[in-house]
This record gives sequence, C-alpha cells and structure tokens, in this order.
Amino acid sequence: MVTALALIVIGIDNPDDKNVIYGLIAVSGILGILLVLPIGGADMPVVVSLLNSLSGIAAAFTGFIINNSVLIVAGSLVGASGLILTFIMCKAMNRTLPDVLFKAFGGSGEKESLTRTKVGSDADEVAMMLDGAQKVIIVPGYGMAVSQCQHQVKEFADLIANKYDTEVSYAIHPVAGRMPGHMNVLLAEANVPYEQLIEMDEINSEFPDCDVALVIGANDTTNPAARSGEGPLAGMPIIDADQARTVVIVKRSLSVGYAGVDNDLFYMDKTMMMFGDGKKMMTELNNAIKDA
Ligand code: TAP
Repeated sequence: MVTALALIVIGIDNPDDKNVIYGLIAVSGILGILLVLPIGGADMPVVVSLLNSLSGIAAAFTGFIINNSVLIVAGSLVGASGLILTFIMCKAMNRTLPDVLFKAFGGSGEKESLTRTKVGSDADEVAMMLDGAQKVIIVPGYGMAVSQCQHQVKEFADLIANKYDTEVSYAIHPVAGRMPGHMNVLLAEANVPYEQLIEMDEINSEFPDCDVALVIGANDTTNPAARSGEGPLAGMPIIDADQARTVVIVKRSLSVGYAGVDNDLFYMDKTMMMFGDGKKMMTELNNAIKDA
C-alpha cells in the first residue's frame, strides 16, 4: 500500500513516465490479491459487495478523467449502493468492516476434518414423522440453489398444508446462498407467497414452537458453532433451527459448508439426515407424503 501511494506521488511529478503507471498497476494488483486472499469463511459476501462498490467508485473516477458525466453518475450509484449493501451485510453478520478486512490476516483458512458419523433417514420415515405436524419452518440454503429444488420445496409446502393443515413458513438468513437475496429470488420463482418468507430476526423466536425445521442445503447459516465466539463463523447470527422439536436436514453428506466448519446440528438426537441431492430427496419426500 505504501509503495502504491509512493508511486502515485511520483506519477504526479512525472506524468510522462509510463513505467510509474505500469508499476502502480502491478503493485495494486498484488495488493488486491493479498488483501482478499486471507479472508474466507462467512466474511466473503461482505468482501464481494465491497469490491462491487469499489468498482463503481473506480468507474466514477474514470468519468472525471475522461470527462464523462454518465460514467460519473453511474459509477457513483454503483459505489454508493454497494457500500450500503456492505454495511447492511456487516450488520447482519455482526461484524465491523475493519474486522472483516483485517482480522483473518495470517489465518490458516483450513477446513475442519470430519470424524463423526450419523445414520441417515429415508423419505418414508420423515413423511411419517411429518404426519400431524402443526408448524413447519423451511430453512433454505445454498444446496437448494445448487440442486434447483425450489419447485419441489413449494410442492412440499402445499402438500403438508393441504393434507395435514400445517402452517408453513420459510426462514431467510441474510447471507444464505451465494448472493444477497439468493433464496428470495429462487423461492419467488417457484411462486412461494412473499408473506411466507420471514427474515431471520423475525422468525427465530418461533422455532421453540415449531414441530419440524426442514433444512434444505443450508449449513453455515444454521451452525450453532457461530454462537461459541470462536472460529470463522464466530459472532454470525444464525437461524435457530436447533430449537425446533425435530430437525430434518437434506444434503448429500456430512461435509462442511462455505466456512469449512463442522456442524453440531447434524449430530443431535432430534436431527434426521436425509442424505442425497436436494431435488431427488424432496421429490422422494413429496411422493412419500402423497402415499402416506
Ligand atoms: P453453506 O454453508 O455453503 O452450505 C451449503 C450446503 O449445501 C453444503 O454443506 C452442501 O453439503 C449442500 N449442498 C451442496 N449441493 C447440494 C445439493 N445438490 N443438494 C443438497 N445439498 C447440497 O450454505 P448456507 O447455509 O446457505 O450458507 C451460505 C454461506 O455462504 C455462508 O457461509 C455465507 O457467508 C457464504 N456466502 C454467502 C454469500 C451471500 S451474499 N449470500 C456470498 C458468498 C458466500 P453437501 O456437500 O453435503 O451436499
């Protein structure tokens, strides 16, 4: 950073020296890589959003240099909205921006190795357990996006609402998936009513009264390790799926999520794991409910 600043000062004094510009580009590139490289775990969405914002600011400055007001206005809009989103996400994850940018520096970034095991449950067992459930909360995550099973999830919600008169809602974590609003967009595409999508802060208090929390491809956003104050997820608020009477988790294995942290929720006595691709497992579950 110091070298980049020095090169800027030298460049102002020697505007015709192209080597200074090339040097500045090289040093800035290295600085960008080194700054982002150690940041991982749950902090990445904040960095992605900050970089988006910086791209807008760069465009606005380019607008000043080439005297293009469209670029200045468009760049400022991208810069400002990206910065607002960055701070909204920092708040949602209970972190400050300097913590996100500099706290991981020097960290190992290793993923935890898994040693524990858990026996899986099949669709018929889960369908039987759902019979009579009065309140079910669906917790979608990145795996739902990967398997594109939002239509099967909507069909599941309709099935249990019609067959068992179950009250169904969706718990939306602000950073579930891989981009802001990822879950909302997917569920809206499947025509899930907007009022059933409830933000984390609002829905968390409802889990103790919930018969079943159905977690579909979510991992970090439900990981109780975030409450411990240690590790890459420390301090991130989570969906309190572990407070539900029974937890059903649909994912392919016991493997870790984006932040690389093993999830105690998988191993709880009240948790039933449905191992398999989201779309396949939700289709099996829907068929089992229809046959029950
Ligand atoms: P993750 O913690 O990333 O976990 C997703 C889980 O989905 C994985 O553990 C994976 O387990 C499962 N999965 C993958 N493919 C699947 C499939 N085809 N069928 C069923 N399951 C599948 O998800 P999350 O809870 O949504 O958390 C999001 C994470 O991403 C957070 O750490 C967040 O900080 C980070 N992040 C978010 C954003 C934004 S802005 N939303 C941007 C970048 C990063 P298996 O391999 O066992 O199936």
